[in-house]
Amino acid sequence: MPAPNAAAAGRFAIGGESFVNRLGFGAMRLTGPGIWGEPKDRAEALATLRALPGLGVNFIDTADSYGPYVSEMLIREALHPYREMLVATKGGLVRMGPGRWAPIGRPEYLRQEAMMSLRRLGVERIDLWQLHRIDPKVPRDEQFDVIRALRAEGLIRHTGLSNVSVEDIEAAQTFFPVATVQNRYNLADRASEAVLEYCARHKIGFIPWYPLAAGDLARPGSALDAAARRHDVRPASVALAWLLQRSPVMLPIPGTSQRAHLEENVAAAAIRLDSAEVSALDRQGAEAGRAAS
Ligand SMILES: NC(=O)c1ccc[n+]([C@@H]2O[C@H](COP(=O)([O-])OP(=O)(O)OC[C@H]3O[C@@H](n4cnc5c(N)ncnc54)[C@H](OP(=O)(O)O)[C@@H]3O)[C@@H](O)[C@H]2O)c1
Repeated sequence: MPAPNAAAAGRFAIGGESFVNRLGFGAMRLTGPGIWGEPKDRAEALATLRALPGLGVNFIDTADSYGPYVSEMLIREALHPYREMLVATKGGLVRMGPGRWAPIGRPEYLRQEAMMSLRRLGVERIDLWQLHRIDPKVPRDEQFDVIRALRAEGLIRHTGLSNVSVEDIEAAQTFFPVATVQNRYNLADRASEAVLEYCARHKIGFIPWYPLAAGDLARPGSALDAAARRHDVRPASVALAWLLQRSPVMLPIPGTSQRAHLEENVAAAAIRLDSAEVSALDRQGAEAGRAAS
C-alpha cells in the first residue's frame, strides 16, 4: 500500500495566499505529561516531526505555552529552516504548571511572547500567529491592537484567534484580517457550529482542536467502528475524514507523539465517506455528545 499523504485532503489558502494541505499536525502532545516539560520519548517526538514532510503534512500548529517553549524548540530542532512547512504558533495563554493554564493579554506581554516565538522558531516572520485566548481582564481592543501592530511591523504574516465567538471575530476584523479561528470541535462536540458556518462564509480557516477528543474517538468500540471496518482503517482516520468532509475551510490538526498514530491520522486524507455514512456519523456523534454532557 502506498504511504498516506495529506495532499489527498486538498488545499486551503490561509489568508487567501498561503496554501497548506488541509490535514495538519498539532504539536501540543509532543511535550511532557500535562503539556509540561520535555517529552518522555524525545527521539520519537523528533522522529514524528521529521516524518511530517514525507507524509505531505505542511501545516503545524504549536504555541509558546506548550511545554512551555518545548514544542516550539522541538519543531525548530527537527525541521528548521522549514522549507514548504507553515508553522503556526500562539501566545496569550501561559502554562503555570502541569495541567494549569491562565490567559495573559497585556499588550506588552503579547508582544514579548511573539518576539520570543520568533527567536525560538528561528524565523524573521511568523507565518501565522494566533491569540490563544482573549484575556477577560484586559480590554479586548488592546489585545487586538498589539496584534495589528505586530502584523504592520512585518513580524507576523497572518493572524488568527482561538476560542472565540462570531462577535469576537467581527470585532477583531476591525483591527486585522482574521485568517484562522481555532475552537474546540469534533464529531461529538459541535458547540462551535455557528463559528464554523461564519468561517466558511468568509473563507477563514477553521482549525478544530481536540479533533479526536484526546483519543476517545480513536478507541475501538467508539461510534466510528462500523465505518472504520468498512474502509479498513482505524477509527481515528474516520473521525478526521468526517471533519475534512464537514467543510472546505476545516483544517484538522490531530496531535500525536507517535509515528504509527501519525500515519493513521494522515490516512484520513484519502477517505471519502458517502452521504449515508456521514448521516449515520452525525447521528452517532450527536448521541455521544449528549451522553458526555
Ligand atoms: N487553541 C487551543 O486552545 C487548543 C487547545 C488544545 C489543543 N490545541 C491544538 O490542537 C491540537 C490537537 O488537539 P488535542 O491534542 O487536544 O487533541 P486530539 O488531537 O484530539 O488528541 C490527541 C491525543 O489523541 C491521541 N491520538 C492521536 N492520534 C491517535 C490515533 N491515531 N490513535 C489513538 N490515539 C491517538 C494522542 O496520543 P498519542 O501521542 O499516544 O498518539 C493524544 O493524546 C493540539 O496538538 C494543539 O496544537 C489547541
